[in-house]
Amino acid sequence: MMTDVFTDTIKGIKRERPPVWFMRQAGRVIPEYLKLREKYSFHQLMRTPELAAEVTLQPVRLLGVDAAILFSDILVIPEAMGMKLAFTDKGPRFDTALKDVKDPLSFLDANPEKLNHIYDAIDAIMATRPASTPLIGFCGAPLTTLFYMVQGISSNHQFPDAVEMMYRDKETTNKLFEAVTDLSIEYALKQVKHGISAFQLFDTHAGLVPYPLYHEMVMPHVRRILRAVQETGTPVIFFPKGLGAGMRLLKDEKIDFVGVDWQMSIEDAKAMLGPQTGVQGNLDPRILTSDLKTIQRELEKFLPFGSKEHKWIFNLGHGVLPNIPFGHLKFVVDWIKSTDWNRN
Ligand code: CP3
Repeated sequence: MMTDVFTDTIKGIKRERPPVWFMRQAGRVIPEYLKLREKYSFHQLMRTPELAAEVTLQPVRLLGVDAAILFSDILVIPEAMGMKLAFTDKGPRFDTALKDVKDPLSFLDANPEKLNHIYDAIDAIMATRPASTPLIGFCGAPLTTLFYMVQGISSNHQFPDAVEMMYRDKETTNKLFEAVTDLSIEYALKQVKHGISAFQLFDTHAGLVPYPLYHEMVMPHVRRILRAVQETGTPVIFFPKGLGAGMRLLKDEKIDFVGVDWQMSIEDAKAMLGPQTGVQGNLDPRILTSDLKTIQRELEKFLPFGSKEHKWIFNLGHGVLPNIPFGHLKFVVDWIKSTDWNRN
């Protein structure tokens, strides 16, 4: 029996076209989401399983994407480790940053039960999803998650004290990575148990450190999370934004798919990753604030790659931006689905 185009593709089975979904597709530009946001806070939406399920499935129903992604956030892990978090107009902000704490390890106090509402949300999604819609689970990778915890806030997407700590105090940094990784693995495996079809690890800030340092200090933890999920038979996607030339070091990691950011060409990424590894990406989201003619011209540039390469999931090179018109996202989905990719 044929399964859906996302699940087949991520398992390496050649299909007639690439699957399409968008990072940060839930929320942001969907009118039905924005209406719900007038009534409920982000935390309320995320913590009420029925509402989280509704918001998760909106992009499937309204945009026609091939996969849903769980409506949650990467910062639920620090919250479950006892850190108090607020989402402000300027982005997420922790009450107390680890950089200001004498002994960050004993400051943290993991309580995995604080994540239970997310498993309830997955159950609600499974119960209400259109037949065979795959659900992507996720969490933040240890570097991005720890950077928010150490800095307490992202100011202009820079985390200077977190980067400095990584150079100065490797021992503490490593223990903190360990703690985040342990809880992330438990969290990921529970998501698998509740029925996700694939798992994405978001490392949005991977590009903030030199890639040899990334490889030395972060990769062992990333590997541990990805392996744990893969051992259950669930495919993984790893998105190390900004890793650049460091991408070639992922070639032998046996990662199912690597998410490619908009800075690199998808062809170069594929060449660096080798034949085993699939790629996901990588249209520059800023193109989608332009006009349909420009958008179509940029989409057509993917034709040669997409017609010869079947281990490819179409996505953006980073998340949907709040100023992208809903109709432009819909145009992309329709274009991917109606194009003849000439894969026979
Ligand atoms: O993809 C999806 O739509 C599913 C849900 C999802 C959210 N956050 C919901 C959210 C996912 C996959 C994330 C991942 C996430 N969160 C990342 C990695 C991906 C990326 O975009 O780089 C990061 C770095 C975060 C941390 C975070 N959470 C930030 C920086 C912010 C504030 C700015 C923003 O992105 O809106 C959040 C809040 C957040 N996470 C909102 C949503 C819908 C907005 C909350 C609100 O309405 O104020």
